Amino acid sequence: MAQMKINGQSVAFEPGQSVLQAAQANGIKIPTLCYLAEATPTGVCRMCVVEVVGADRLLPSCDTPAGEGMEVITDSPRVTEARKAILEMLLASGEHNCLLCEANGECKLQALAYEYGLEAPATLPAKAEFPLDDDYPVITRDFSKCILCGRCVQACNEVQVNLAIPAPWGPRQDQEPDKGWFPLVDYENCTHCGQCVQACPVGALTEKKAKGKGRSWETKKVRTTCPYCGVGCQLWLHVKDNQIIKVTAVEDAQPNRGRLCVKGRFGYDFIHSPERLTTPLIKENGEFREASWDEALDLVAERFMEIKKEHGPDSIAGVSCARSTNEDSYNMQKLFRAVIGTNNIDHCART
Ligand code: SF4
Ligand code: SF4
Ligand code: SF4
Ligand code: FES
Repeated sequence: MAQMKINGQSVAFEPGQSVLQAAQANGIKIPTLCYLAEATPTGVCRMCVVEVVGADRLLPSCDTPAGEGMEVITDSPRVTEARKAILEMLLASGEHNCLLCEANGECKLQALAYEYGLEAPATLPAKAEFPLDDDYPVITRDFSKCILCGRCVQACNEVQVNLAIPAPWGPRQDQEPDKGWFPLVDYENCTHCGQCVQACPVGALTEKKAKGKGRSWETKKVRTTCPYCGVGCQLWLHVKDNQIIKVTAVEDAQPNRGRLCVKGRFGYDFIHSPERLTTPLIKENGEFREASWDEALDLVAERFMEIKKEHGPDSIAGVSCARSTNEDSYNMQKLFRAVIGTNNIDHCART
């Protein structure tokens, strides 16, 4: 394996890794803001700068390839001063009032300001100077807190490939006065999947349903599998007082590796709905009445047997639900083939 030195320590790296990836693989922390592991590095924020022996300037470690024999310093006074200057500039660039911000406790800018011992700027720009997009049901886009890192653009265009945040964006492409330079969304293409929200390192993009429901330190994260389809995406349920207040994707697990669709991320209202069925219902004379599971299942079995006797087994067909586990789908086909005696069995994901 190739070798380089980071902070005087010899470390191994894989060909093709960046300096940042080599450091992370060896447990050496370098702060980042714009870097999104699953997308092409852009080098926009410069938070990850490091000294490389022989280079005449600081280099962004996320966008600098690791090289055999390279010597890198990640925490020199020069590096620290550069990072502080970047953070001060970002803190002064928006309405960063952490007290009222939904991202308080989860914000990377806030955490880095704390780590580098920075004070809040004496004055902040007014919120009204920035675009606010609050017209759609699940996401608020408050660009008074945007640090122009571009992670939302990459999450949408490279990770989800929805192409809903069109170029150009960024401070030097200020072409449309009504739009400013912020990463505004083209709602023709937006699927409201919320991947941009998950990628946003600050409080610029937030989930409306979670607003005011609880801070990150008040919630418990419970891992589960999305109940909507057969893909089986891995979820974190953010739970406070036994209520789910938010859903995010598990970043480092198959099959979704941090991605979610609109249903998995936002479609959880049914769980606490007072209209949710809690007992079987049997319809009699046009009206539903509550029944026990035994009574309901006996009735279904009885009706299946009557239909089979009268019209034959092929008059009955079954469609297994994509929310079912493999084991339940197996049992479903067994019921139809072995008990009812028909091959009329299918699965809704195939229809
Ligand atoms: S985005 Fe971060 S730094 Fe800005 S107000 Fe919110 S918590 Fe504070
Ligand atoms: S919600 Fe999804 S599709 Fe819409 S802008 Fe965000 S990432 Fe793109
Ligand atoms: S909205 Fe968030 S993710 Fe997008 S550029 Fe601004 S800070 Fe970065
Ligand atoms: S994290 Fe490397 S430049 Fe932003």
